[in-house]
Amino acid sequence: MTTAHELPVPLLSVRGLSVSYAAPRKGTHLGTGAALAEADLDVRPGEIVGIVGETGSGKTTLARATVGLVAPAAGTIAFAGSDVGGLRGRARRAFRRSGQVQLVFQDPLRSLDPDLTIGEIVREPLDIAGTLSRAERQERVVESLRLVGLDPDAVLARHPRQLSGGQRQRASLARAISTRPRLLFCDEPVSALDVSNRNLVLNLLDQLRRDLDLAVVIIAHDLSSLAGIADRVAVFYRGRIVEQGPIRDVLEDPAHPYTALLTASAPSIGDEDRLRPDQLKPAPDAPAWPADLGCGFAHRCPFVHDACADQPRPAPLPHAPARQAACHVATTWRERLAPPHPHKESA
Ligand SMILES: Nc1ncnc2c1ncn2[C@@H]1O[C@H](COP(=O)(O)OP(=O)(O)OP(=O)(O)O)[C@@H](O)[C@H]1O
Ligand SMILES: [Mg+2]
Repeated sequence: MTTAHELPVPLLSVRGLSVSYAAPRKGTHLGTGAALAEADLDVRPGEIVGIVGETGSGKTTLARATVGLVAPAAGTIAFAGSDVGGLRGRARRAFRRSGQVQLVFQDPLRSLDPDLTIGEIVREPLDIAGTLSRAERQERVVESLRLVGLDPDAVLARHPRQLSGGQRQRASLARAISTRPRLLFCDEPVSALDVSNRNLVLNLLDQLRRDLDLAVVIIAHDLSSLAGIADRVAVFYRGRIVEQGPIRDVLEDPAHPYTALLTASAPSIGDEDRLRPDQLKPAPDAPAWPADLGCGFAHRCPFVHDACADQPRPAPLPHAPARQAACHVATTWRERLAPPHPHKESA
């Protein structure tokens, strides 16, 4: 079996992606309407990539831009070697219809049409793609439901409201995989579920990536839920990717102070020396941190110094090129703790 690490060619390659919404919602972090700034992200075939970050940090925006639901303000999105970020009009609709990249929305109860049956819901992307015969589509619906562990006889004629939360999550997964995508974005697939259902759905995603040779991007609020399943993780903070790398390395020894904070609040990771919330500076009254004011975490960071007035670009760590951190004083947490750090006095 090939692993993600043996396949250097990315399936998805996002570079310098920025997205702005026309009518900014309250609390948008990067100044007027900007929701995502200069994001770089690769996803390799068959890989599971986790995305974590607090609410409003741009996680869903990256997913929406990649599936073509929102047009980028800047940057490129390459899927299987072709530029899909620059597609407009008919070409963009054709890409979306093809179902090669699918998105499972954050809230299955709201995203599944309540008037349709589960059978119709799962078949809809196939009807839109229009590549299979009627019989083939029906067969694909049944197969997709089985792949997510739902009994077709029991759910085909039901409506979303008649399913449990876990079943609904599976039904939206069945819908998303019905076109046999090569890349699947799952937006907070487990946030609304209880612990036992969480593990079932995460294991299911792992199984699907094997069965269907699928690359999966899982969006989550906390790092700990991704620990057992993702190969790599990207940490979002205020519209920017502040750190990314192999998940075990990031969890064990975070490089960005914000990641250190996240790992400190992940209960099973247990390293008392991690950054604690009480070491942070209080958040200022002004919620917005305009992009031109430099690092978005500077106002809370105990290690802040002059260079932080410039927005850092993610850069590979000198001793770990597979890892990147957007921090002027980026070093792994272990190194930061070892010798007295020159910037620590400012804490
Ligand atoms: N349709 C929209 N119109 C205007 N602003 C939006 C829209 N969608 C998102 N935003 C803003 O863009 C920023 C990023 O939002 P996004 O939904 O990508 O965050 P998120 O990380 O997915 O958050 P959550 O964890 O709450 O789902 C937020 O400030 C949000 O208010
Ligand atoms: Mg979201």
